[in-house]
Amino acid sequence: FGREIRYQEVVASTQILAHQWAREGAVEGSLVVAEEQTEGRGRLGRSWYSPPRSGVWMSLILRPPILLTEASHLTLLASLGVKQGIERVTGLPIQIKWPNDLLVHGKKICGILTELRGEQDQIHYVILGMGINVNTPEKNWPEELRAIATSLAIELGGPVHRASLIAAILEELEEVYDHYLQSGFSKIKAKWEQSSGIIGKQIVARTPQGVITGIAEHLNDQGALIIRTDRGLVSVHSADVSLK
Ligand code: BTN
Repeated sequence: FGREIRYQEVVASTQILAHQWAREGAVEGSLVVAEEQTEGRGRLGRSWYSPPRSGVWMSLILRPPILLTEASHLTLLASLGVKQGIERVTGLPIQIKWPNDLLVHGKKICGILTELRGEQDQIHYVILGMGINVNTPEKNWPEELRAIATSLAIELGGPVHRASLIAAILEELEEVYDHYLQSGFSKIKAKWEQSSGIIGKQIVARTPQGVITGIAEHLNDQGALIIRTDRGLVSVHSADVSLK
């Protein structure tokens, strides 16, 4: 990954550039990186705070030979790869919150946004957008983010070299991705379940259909989260999950 890179000082969103590039035929593993985003996008229509030179804001183009129904595998494997990359460089313990938030000491350090284009059951391409709060000082955070987000520098007490971090993340991502294409989802699923802080615990899942509380049991083969509730097992495909 990252043999083809487009680097920009300022963009609206690296996702937009990556979509354009993918439509023009970018090869798998092509990467868009920017120092600053003026309209960084988050999941569920939220915005993503992307101040200049203090984070890693990047989008990776993939062309996986899998079905549309399997696409959530990519989100889960991305969270594993990014976690391993950050841990390798910083030594900080990273927790995964389903489906793909990465936390340090309970605060968000990284968000992953998967966007894809396909037709019928085929995937044309996938854009994995990754936003990592690296060197953002605490005083710069907007008030509403201070309680829920942190940066690697805040947690470590010193800055992190962003290029080394990107290199490590791309290496780890490529390894989990190759493993997935060769051997399938089951090992990634097991590893993910192990690394996530939620399996076996009481959680609250806020889904578009309503709030579900129960015990997070496991992931199913599609990557959905199975929750044991008073009324039996429920599978959740998209939600904001927190520990109760
Ligand atoms: C989330 O809501 O947690 C996902 C945040 C994803 C942010 C990254 S930053 C690089 C890429 N470009 C964007 O506009 N968003 C993603």
